[in-house]
Amino acid sequence: MNEVSLLFPHVFEAIPMAALLLGSEFRIQAANSDFMDLFSIDEEILNRPFSEIVPDDTLKGMMEDVLGGEVGRRESRLRLNNGIDLRVVMKSATSVTPDGIIVLMEELSERMWLEEKFLQAEKLFAMGQLATCITHEIGNPLGIMKSTMRFLNDHLTRMGGDLTMYSQVVMENIDRMHELLKDISEFSRPNKEQIVFHDICSSLSQILHFVEKECEGHGVVIEASIEDNLPIVCCNPHRLKQVFLNLVKNSIEAMPNGGKFSVAAKRVDLDGKDAVLVEVTDSGIGISEKDMKTIFKPFHTTKCNGNGLGLFIVRNIVREHNGRITVTSKEGVGTTVSILLPADGRKDENA
Ligand SMILES: Nc1ncnc2c1ncn2[C@@H]1O[C@H](COP(=O)(O)OP(=O)(O)O)[C@@H](O)[C@H]1O
Ligand SMILES: [Mg+2]
Repeated sequence: MNEVSLLFPHVFEAIPMAALLLGSEFRIQAANSDFMDLFSIDEEILNRPFSEIVPDDTLKGMMEDVLGGEVGRRESRLRLNNGIDLRVVMKSATSVTPDGIIVLMEELSERMWLEEKFLQAEKLFAMGQLATCITHEIGNPLGIMKSTMRFLNDHLTRMGGDLTMYSQVVMENIDRMHELLKDISEFSRPNKEQIVFHDICSSLSQILHFVEKECEGHGVVIEASIEDNLPIVCCNPHRLKQVFLNLVKNSIEAMPNGGKFSVAAKRVDLDGKDAVLVEVTDSGIGISEKDMKTIFKPFHTTKCNGNGLGLFIVRNIVREHNGRITVTSKEGVGTTVSILLPADGRKDENA
């Protein structure tokens, strides 16, 4: 054996996708471990025909590409002879020997998933930059408009008459735009706040106290069942408060004619470690099956004055804390949002 052929198995193994070398009659001459993993093969396959593994028409297509002198690229759905379904991108090329072919393939779903993640990350990054720009460029003029309108409103009030109803409308809408800007800037703020050991119970009590009046005004009865011995959670208390506030707000908005709103928090076991489960339940309008698929998407809202950022932000914060969020709902009955937070909190992002 010369040096090149000695090197070959190592090079072959190092190819970062499933790789296969076919010889005459399409018999398998070499396969790297990515190939074995992708095809879930653990037995000896050397010298066996490739047609034992892939259907004939796939093999035929590959051969057409190779004989046409092209490096083929073929997206295929393969039903393997062992019953496994795969979606792969096949790349085939003539190899160093006259009748040898190297086949390279990647599992499509994983590649697509990565592409999608990449696109999402890019979009979020762009959105963050845009948000910073918007909050400055729109926030400042809005502030000036608000104070000018307040001045005008005072003046109109002193003059008497009912013109103030127009200035009130303008001021309310300025407030709405401010709220939206606040949500957008919360979302895009670099997350550098201190992580501390925190008693979730105190955050929940504060929030319930905070929304008490609003609930009363909407005919919503609050019920709280918070266990005494909740574990202390390593978290960013400010961000967690944002989570609970958003959930309470959604619940109140889902009960325009009043109803019941309950918060329960208890200690649970998560993979052998302490965690806190917080469940926020309302007897509101509920979420349709169709909407359920999109509730976490930014800007998805079914409300005429909503911005659709609440649950998107909530989910991001829960993920920052290495937690899980689930929503169950029935139209006309109500909604429960469950948040599971591991006590040891956030992943060390530098780890
Ligand atoms: N507790 C709830 N009850 C009913 N629908 C809800 C509830 N929470 C969220 N939703 C639905 O999810 C959508 C997205 O919520 P969110 O992201 O907070 O945005 P927004 O409240 O601005 O609409 C809402 O418009 C509503 O349709
Ligand atoms: Mg909301």
